[in-house]
Amino acid sequence: MKILLACAVTFLVLLLARKARGTKSDFLVIYFSWSGFTEAAAKVISQKTGGLLLELEPIKPYPEDYSDCVEQAKIEQSKQAFPEIKDLKLPEPDQFGPVFLGYPNWWGSIPRPVASFLKKYSLDGRTVIPFCTHGGGGAGRSLMDLKILAPEADFKKPLVIRVNDVASLPRKIEKLLLDERLITVSSGT
Ligand SMILES: Cc1cc2nc3c(=O)[nH]c(=O)nc-3n(C[C@H](O)[C@H](O)[C@H](O)COP(=O)(O)O)c2cc1C
Repeated sequence: MKILLACAVTFLVLLLARKARGTKSDFLVIYFSWSGFTEAAAKVISQKTGGLLLELEPIKPYPEDYSDCVEQAKIEQSKQAFPEIKDLKLPEPDQFGPVFLGYPNWWGSIPRPVASFLKKYSLDGRTVIPFCTHGGGGAGRSLMDLKILAPEADFKKPLVIRVNDVASLPRKIEKLLLDERLITVSSGT
């Protein structure tokens, strides 16, 4: 009888622990965005996965004028600069799992604040799912550049999202996440 009771209690404890694990996502969704599209994508990913959303911000914001921003980005790209970024409140290393890392395609690669992020914070041994928004150039050579900056991270196939209407974004992202088995059920929104 005692053995039966012990088994039942153990089963109940395991069931509760499993339930608790299932309710909290350990994904992180870290993103840089200039005009807001990558931010919109990041919010959808966070909502669909339950991941914690963290914005990557340079200390000195980029110019609001498009041409000025393009020019500055071009100079930073050619210098392979590491612009200073604000501190991110990352959870303790054992408190998070896979990391979504989002950015717009800038000059065929990553905006340099993303390079600063990879220099400042270690993603060694982490699963990283890049998501790149773009105006027609796809992910360019950004994945290659990410791998050079963080050779010990485990980069997965990136989600590549062309900039267009924000209204279709949730549906598209959900399909990408389901196709890549990053979520298993539709969140229904
Ligand atoms: C500085 C700069 C450089 C860009 N370079 C490219 C590029 O090389 N290829 C491309 O497809 N889109 C390029 N774009 C377009 C952005 O990738 C696209 O609009 C992106 O989705 C915007 O994301 P955001 O709203 O989060 O900033 C560039 C945009 C800017 C501002």
